[in-house]
Formats: sequence, C-alpha cells, structure tokens
Amino acid sequence: MVVTVDETATRAAVEVLRQGGNAVDAAVAAALMLAVTFPEAGNLGGGGFLLLRTSDGTYAALDFRETAPRDITPEHFLGPDGRPDPQRIRSGGLAVAVPGTPAGLAEAHARWGRLAWSALVEPAIVAAREGVPVTARTAHALAAHAARLERDPEARALFFRDGRVLREGERMRCPALATTLEWLAREGPRAFYEGPVAEAIVRTVRGAGGVLALEDLAAYRPVWRRPVEGRYRGYRVVSFPPPSSGGVVLLEILGMLEPFDLGATGFGSSLTVHRMVEAEKRAYADRARWLGDPDRVAVPVERLLDPDYLAARARTIRDRRATPARRIHAGKFPETESSDTTHLSIADAEGNVVALTTTLNSAFGAALFAEGTGILLNNEMDDFALAPGVANLYGLVGGAANAVTGGARPLSSMAPTIVEAPEGARYQPFLVLGSPGGATIITSVLQVIVNVVDHGMELQEAVDAPRFHHQWLPDRLDHEPRAFPADVARALVRRGHRLHEREWMGNVSAIARAADGTWLGAADPRRAGCAQGL
Ligand code: DON
Repeated sequence: MVVTVDETATRAAVEVLRQGGNAVDAAVAAALMLAVTFPEAGNLGGGGFLLLRTSDGTYAALDFRETAPRDITPEHFLGPDGRPDPQRIRSGGLAVAVPGTPAGLAEAHARWGRLAWSALVEPAIVAAREGVPVTARTAHALAAHAARLERDPEARALFFRDGRVLREGERMRCPALATTLEWLAREGPRAFYEGPVAEAIVRTVRGAGGVLALEDLAAYRPVWRRPVEGRYRGYRVVSFPPPSSGGVVLLEILGMLEPFDLGATGFGSSLTVHRMVEAEKRAYADRARWLGDPDRVAVPVERLLDPDYLAARARTIRDRRATPARRIHAGKFPETESSDTTHLSIADAEGNVVALTTTLNSAFGAALFAEGTGILLNNEMDDFALAPGVANLYGLVGGAANAVTGGARPLSSMAPTIVEAPEGARYQPFLVLGSPGGATIITSVLQVIVNVVDHGMELQEAVDAPRFHHQWLPDRLDHEPRAFPADVARALVRRGHRLHEREWMGNVSAIARAADGTWLGAADPRRAGCAQGL
C-alpha cells in the first residue's frame, strides 16, 4: 500500500513493490519522483525524516534535516536598523540551508534497500526528461507564487510559458534536473555534494547573498537517531525525535489527553476540543523553550515525556476556562548544558512500514534554482528562531535552544509516525502517517490518531474530518471552516478561546491495518493525494 500526495509518485512506488522492492525502496523512488512532479515540496534541495519499522519490529529513524552553513551567524539576519529581519531568513541566499535529501535517501537505501539504487532513480529521470503534465494543485501553487518564482531565470524557463505560469495539464519538462538525476543514479550522493552540482549550488546561493560553502556540502551527513515513543490508551506511538519537535510534542499532547475520556465527551464537542487545545498550548510552550538540535543543545526528551510530568500538566487544564497563553509556561527542568513539505506512507507485503516526510520549507523553498541543475533550494533557515519572540513563517517562536548556529539543524515540526496496536503479547503496526503544514503537522497527526483511537472512525473519515489547531502563541484557536457548528463555537468563545478561521490545515497521507491484516490507504481530500495498493 502506497499513499503519497501525487498519483505519478504513488504509481512509481507501487511499481517498485511489484518488482520485489521493499518499503524503503518504494519510499526512495516516490521521494525522487516527487522532486519532479511536485516541485512545491518534493525535492533534492531540501531535507526530511524517515521512520521505518521492519517486519520484525526493529525501528530505524533517519535524520536528513538540512544544516545551517558553518559561517552563518544571527548577525547575518539583521536589517539596516540593526533589528532581526524575517525577510532575510525566508528568501534569498541566506535562507538556504545545506540540503540533506540526496544523502538521506542514499543512506536509507544503502542500509535497508533491496533493488539497485539506479533502478529507483530511473523513473524520476524519465519523468524529468519527458515531462509531466502539471497537476491542478501545482498549477494553483504556481499561480500563487508566480511573483517569487519570476525573479529566478530558471524558474521562469521551467514554470512559465508566454509570460504566464503553466496551467493544469500543460507539460513541464526539466532537462537539467534529468541530467542531475542521471549523475545521482550513476555516482550516488557524491554527484550532489561534490563537483559541478555542488559548485552550482554554492554559486547560486552566494550570488543571492548567502554564505554556503563547498565545505558545508562536503561535510553534510545524515544521522540515525533513536525514535521517541509513548503509550496512548494501550497503543504504542512511535515518532520522530529531535531535531524534529514533531514526535515529542505529539507524545506530550497525547500524554496530557490520557486522563480525559474523549470518546465519552464525543468528537467535535466543545469540551473535547477545549481539552485538546489546552493540551496543545502546554506542549507548544515546551517546544518553544526546550527543543532544538540535540547535537547542539541538551533536549530534556525523557523529562518532557515523563508520564508524571504530563499528568501534572494535564491537571492544570480547567474545563470551564481557557488558560491564557501568557499564563502558560514551559516546564522547568535543570539545564544540563549550555544552553511546502510532503509526507508519504508505505507498507510492503513483508510487513515493513515507512513514514517519510520531506520538505523545502515553504512552497518552492527559496524559489531559487541552483544554476543549471534543476534543483530547487530550500529556505529551511526560517525554522530557526531568528530572535526570542520573533515568529517564523508558521508563527512559531523559540529561544536559545533553537538559535541560528553554524552547522546546526533547525527545529522541525515534521512528525512521521507509526502507531502500534497490541495483538496478544506483541504489538503490530496499526497506523502509519504524517503530514505537511508547518506547526499544524503535529496537530493534524494528533487528530487523525484521536479520531481513530478515541472516536472509532474509519481511516478515511478520520483524515477527512475538519481540523483545529493551537500552538500556544499566537494565543488563538485556528480552525477549518466547518470544524465548529455555531453552538460549539459559542461554547468555546464562552470559555475564553479566540477563534480564527483558516482555509485548511495539513495534508495527511495515512495507512491503517484492518482487522484481517490488509492495509487500508487514505489520501487527504484537502489536496488530492493518491492511495494505491497492490
Ligand atoms: O520542518 C518543518 O517543520 C517545516 N519546514 C515544515 C514546512 C511545511 O510543512 C510546509 N508545508 N506546508
């Protein structure tokens, strides 16, 4: 079973499974295809996190998050008035962090893959060379980002025709990307991190005001990490550790919800929503204070996930009244030291499952193509906390734990997650899921889990259900248009919540295991994904 956000990528992965490839092979092929068919987020020039559970229950978590260039400092982001300038960390060369995707996909394949590497790259080469029809979704994104993209000559050549962006159904050919992929197929990631591609990346980034150097690319390494795990109503939830906040914040929220019987208070009731939102606020306050690159700062993961800590935090939730964000503080622990994304889920016939989220950060990343390579570069630097209290693109704030630091990984919200259900004395994979959406990734994943576990929904219903979100700051309860009927909205406002409507949140790609052992796939109707089984 394969679920991605794009039909061509789903088909490529299913074909790999048909040829005897495993879930990791299929994930690699899909991710590379997305770099061609879904340029908003699919990428070579970004990074991501892959969570694997093999059929014998072994977990592997590969961090191929981008890193800050070694020479970058917070001062690079000060405007002429000496104040931090968010524009500089979101666009232009200073926004670009060292890409991790080519190294990450190659490492995952080297350790767990079965088919030849070149066979997994090949479908993407063909798609890039022959071109793919622009999907409705990409046509929409191109129109929305036309002004940013028009400034880059290669984006103009690729995405524009007769002075306008490509329309749905028109063919998008990427010959430069096809050539880069051919090198990658032949030589592996060295073709990206050294030689002409690396030189082109450095030239482009420095030409746009950045400081990325050849040494940064040569030094890039993906890192195997130990996943975080917790329990929720008898299920085992395994997710991605720092440098993502995804797993820790998700498990904190679930842990705080444990004492509340959400099934009894019911899906969509004001009390259910209120309790979930109050737990979210407390967990995101911890995120802002404590989470960052675990190789640079001491992240107190065990303390944050300690059931006693979470139970005590849950006891501060008042059913009749929202706690104002300014009265919520991060947990206090001793300091021990100084202090447009896309998700795919795959399960193969042997029982290996993969959850993979990759990102360029915003749609089309920095909207900069590395000269002549067809590679769109990320703007992942914006995931660092520019300065205390200065919000990033997703409104997230942070402090010292996530400060701009040369060589460090910016804190992420990506949450590739696997939920296991007890089966006799053992646990079996039950849900495989993840989402894009910046700060709303975590709450999108959370709501699908709660909808299935607490409200007994079928997988597709759980994915479709309207979503809401609170991230502590700003102190506001975001919700999709049909999330709250009038009486529920009134009851929430009476408790002191400030409601704010957003068009949509998240784009979950999820797999569930049915009682008879078959895999069910669910794509998210918010942005036309594609689930296909074999
Ligand atoms: O790593 C993160 O948390 C962000 N860079 C993810 C960005 C994202 O999800 C954009 N998608 N809509």
